[in-house]
Amino acid sequence: MRLPYRAGFFVVLLVLLALASVVFAATRSSFASADTVILFVVFVILALLAEIYATWVPAYNWEISSSIAIYLAGLFILGPSLGVLLVFAASLLSELFLRWNSDESDRTSSIIPIAFNVSQLVVTVTAAGFLLQALHKQPLQLIGLSDFLLAIASFGVYFILNLSFVIGIVALTEKRKSFLHTLAESIRQFFVQYLVLCVSALLLTALYSLSLWHVLLALFPLTLVHVSFRGYVRLQTEARKTFEQISRLLDERDHYTAVHSQQVAELAVEIAMEMGLSQREIEKADIAARVHDIGKVAIPDSILLKPGPLSEEEWAIMKRHPVISAELIEGLEIYGPVVDAVLHEHERWDGSGYPDGLKGEEIPLLARIIAAADIYNALTTDRPYRKAFSAEKTVAILEGIRGTDLDPQVADALLRVIGVASAEAPALEEIPSPAPEV
Ligand SMILES: [Fe+2]
Repeated sequence: MRLPYRAGFFVVLLVLLALASVVFAATRSSFASADTVILFVVFVILALLAEIYATWVPAYNWEISSSIAIYLAGLFILGPSLGVLLVFAASLLSELFLRWNSDESDRTSSIIPIAFNVSQLVVTVTAAGFLLQALHKQPLQLIGLSDFLLAIASFGVYFILNLSFVIGIVALTEKRKSFLHTLAESIRQFFVQYLVLCVSALLLTALYSLSLWHVLLALFPLTLVHVSFRGYVRLQTEARKTFEQISRLLDERDHYTAVHSQQVAELAVEIAMEMGLSQREIEKADIAARVHDIGKVAIPDSILLKPGPLSEEEWAIMKRHPVISAELIEGLEIYGPVVDAVLHEHERWDGSGYPDGLKGEEIPLLARIIAAADIYNALTTDRPYRKAFSAEKTVAILEGIRGTDLDPQVADALLRVIGVASAEAPALEEIPSPAPEV
């Protein structure tokens, strides 16, 4: 993994801070009782398991691990020093375990991700611990309202820092411009899940004040929450895979567009990134583009595969495919937010598209992005009725339909993505004939 200079500096800084924190914590740590030792060991094992069985949420390109509840409970019960050592031990062991069991042939390439992941967690917990230490609340006894408020404040520090570090490294590595926007969006997306984990940490802390064994008792419902969430996400993932598979099978019916949806999705993602859209919007562009033509499943072969131009009647049937695509996906929760993007992917900036003849910004932004990616893919692919256009001709056509078929800003982003630096509208006489319908 070759990190840009700024990202490398960020990782080194985090590693140094984490090392200082771990050394400082080690010199100040002591186990007050046998119960503390048992709890520390149990928490390391639980956090290790939670990290290994973390839930990957594909729709958000994010991993949610219940280990946050364990880390926070460790911080509250054991105090900042042991809390930092707990996070260090559990995250390092889980990272080593996961990388060791991964398929990567070159394990040395894992050193930077491991160093980053462990360090960012250690620094996050150290910062949350500072808050407790500053107010002399360590370990934290949940007695009065102020104790609860303090626990929630340290959860807030953990939550914001954790998200900031992860989004920050992605922003520095991929030069994404929208750090604050992505952060705000992620806070909104994950607040409930993180809050549930915070409440779990409070529950563990409150039960520990009764006895160590009460803590162990609480682990059963917590495990159940964890397993249910994993099951829910797995169902969503399977539903998505099924639809993408149908989409691929459909593509295979048409030999010329066998990998069409996938390529359109990849380009739509690049355009969305180029336009500085948030991570969530980029994911939505990907999800929508992958199934954007699924409605063609209902179009007969005689029309879909016809080598010549379509008659008016056939064209009317063909034009129904975005509506059918939208109807097919709207029942599934994962596609709910992208139904509009799929439905309006054939609308055109000047209102000449279908199915509703929407114009300009009436067309959802994601639909405009997928349309641009779709047109580019069609122009650069051999079709039954013509060969693929050359790179120069494709650029000329795209510049020609910038502002007519395509949103000018989306067209500019597309031209930048494909390596055309300046996207100026050509003079009128240079405008080529409109792009063929796709
Ligand atoms: Fe389509």
